[in-house]
Amino acid sequence: MKKKARASLLGALVLAGCLDGPVGDLRPYQEEDPADAAPGASDVEAGGPVSFARDIRPLMNRPNGPRAGCKECHYPSQPNPQGFDLTGLDLSSLGALRKGGVSTGRGIVVAGQPDASALVQKLEGTYARGVRMPKDRGPWSVDEIALVRRWILEGAKGADDE
Ligand code: HEC
Repeated sequence: MKKKARASLLGALVLAGCLDGPVGDLRPYQEEDPADAAPGASDVEAGGPVSFARDIRPLMNRPNGPRAGCKECHYPSQPNPQGFDLTGLDLSSLGALRKGGVSTGRGIVVAGQPDASALVQKLEGTYARGVRMPKDRGPWSVDEIALVRRWILEGAKGADDE
């Protein structure tokens, strides 16, 4: 390295060291190590497409709790699936989900149009009929609903058995 270049590098380092705040947080040369990513991090966080089976199904499968899924009330295999019994909406497979329930029908998922999809409206509590889902449980987080929105925007792809 030439003397002059070394001097200006030193100057930059001194300057950076003297500055507080955002400049110190830039860490421009630090590569992100995939091993540091949160557990469950996937292609999605890297900007890849949402997969229904990998990213959304596990959310629906969650048991009753603060962040409940849909299984308890919309999977016919459960002892008291009140959502399924009342509306016919079976969420236990993607093929069944696409058929919707008595009021939503095929409008449950409108590929490419999250705002027009009753699934999103039910999760956000904006659907014209009934209550926000999961009924009587805490709402899904903004990030969780964003996954559903993105999956629909990307064409709501997936096989019937997902
Ligand atoms: C505690 C039981 C319960 C849980 C958990 C639940 N639901 Fe429901 N769901 C119902 C009941 C009851 C209805 C009918 C009344 C209504 O629409 O508000 C319903 C209706 C719906 C409908 C409207 C179906 C139609 O065509 O009329 C959608 C869509 C729906 N649920 C989606 C979901 C989703 C998605 C989840 C999981 C995030 C979920 N539900 C979790 C009980 C539940």
